[in-house]
Amino acid sequence: MQDIKQYVAQNKQRLLDELFELLRFPSVSADPKYKDDVLKTADYVAQKLRDAGADNVEVCPTAGYPIVFGEKIIDPDKPTVLVYGHYDVQPPDPLELWKTPPFEPTVRDGKIYARGACDDKGQFYMHIKAFELMMQTGTLPCNIKIMIEGEEEVGSSNLGIFVKANKEKLKADVVLISDTSMISMENPSLETGLRGLSYLEVEVVGPNRDLHSGVYGGAVANPATILAKMIASLHDENNHITIPGFYNDVIELTELERKELNAAPYDETEYKKDLDVAELWGENGYTTFERTGTRPTLEVNGIWGGYIGEGAKTVLPSKANAKISMRLVPDQSSKKITQLFTDHFLKIAPKSVKVTVTPHHGGEPVVTPTDSVAYRAAQKAITESFGKAPIPTRGGGSIPIVALFEAELGIKTVLMGFGLDSDALHSPNEKYDIFNYYKGIETIPLFHKYFAELNGK
Ligand code: BES
Ligand code: MN
Ligand code: MN
Repeated sequence: MQDIKQYVAQNKQRLLDELFELLRFPSVSADPKYKDDVLKTADYVAQKLRDAGADNVEVCPTAGYPIVFGEKIIDPDKPTVLVYGHYDVQPPDPLELWKTPPFEPTVRDGKIYARGACDDKGQFYMHIKAFELMMQTGTLPCNIKIMIEGEEEVGSSNLGIFVKANKEKLKADVVLISDTSMISMENPSLETGLRGLSYLEVEVVGPNRDLHSGVYGGAVANPATILAKMIASLHDENNHITIPGFYNDVIELTELERKELNAAPYDETEYKKDLDVAELWGENGYTTFERTGTRPTLEVNGIWGGYIGEGAKTVLPSKANAKISMRLVPDQSSKKITQLFTDHFLKIAPKSVKVTVTPHHGGEPVVTPTDSVAYRAAQKAITESFGKAPIPTRGGGSIPIVALFEAELGIKTVLMGFGLDSDALHSPNEKYDIFNYYKGIETIPLFHKYFAELNGK
């Protein structure tokens, strides 16, 4: 541990400068206008892997953005860790809400502000630097494969194809990912599950053109009103989702599991204050941890239609749209839920409008084991580095590829994230604490050490 701390201390400024360089690439995968920048980011990551000492570094082409891969096999008899992360980021919009530009990393109060600072550049880069540290200090105790993709924020569909086609190349004993959150630095935690996702778009079409809302209003159904009503009907008075069959495959937690989950520190007053809401909302009968970690949900991510420009225009819009996501928990299936939603939404549509539902991407929920060698290695690493044992939690977000690693490669994942929920992922002013960045670089080599040790190699 002393050697690790010393390496980080001696290289402090460089470790930060390199991350800043990475954060300056606007690698937004959702928007084609950033295509060149996304491609340049992949090359930068590949070069950094080479510099750190990885062998066989490749920028593997896909039908979309490339996957960067590198490895160091020290002994085929030793266990292998497959590190996964993503170099793409969410769009920075709305730009005007950023205090400093999203792709010009800026430090305020010990925190790095930039799009991708936490999700996931700041986090996956810790692994490249921890790998460099182990190479430089001659302490790499096991084999390592590092795979960083460029399409996580748009559903990882090309990575899915890559994984199926490269099972031998990706062969490993565990997947290690830093792309999730901890409760706080004082209360380190390990996420032991991720929700799945079903994402779709709906369109409600009324008259064949926008109409004068005075001339026709009252005689023709307004698609915006109809859409609002249809969406509102998807939750009942207990905030349960009303889609028939929606909860059929949901595994209820045992009383013991609920007790353990709710034992984690939680300050509701602080939670509300941070978000500036007077009251929380959610499915009746469940706590906040349960609502975000172990229960399925349905959210409107965007809704539009009609006139939204300056001033007032009297118009009865021809159509209205919404983007809807459902977060899923074991054993719900993304495909099944998408179908249930589609059937239900079409069924509740009045004859006055035409409704279409278009599915986007999806992903399956996962629960990661807490009795494995890899989980124990993560526990030991965090306990040593933070001076406190990690609390197991359930993450509300989704990393769809995790279920696929399990299904296609037969490998379980350890989610050793160092972000905080308050790091504003996907929001303006995303940040990552410099302290967390260094702490991650210090903790990761301990994971490898204990993983090799506990494997008896
Ligand atoms: N890193 C996040 C997921 C995450 C964040 C999990 C915090 C747990 C805690 C990831 O980059 C992400 O944003 N995933 C998307 C899904 C994807 C298909 C767009 C999500 O959860 O919305
Ligand atoms: Mn992420
Ligand atoms: Mn994300």
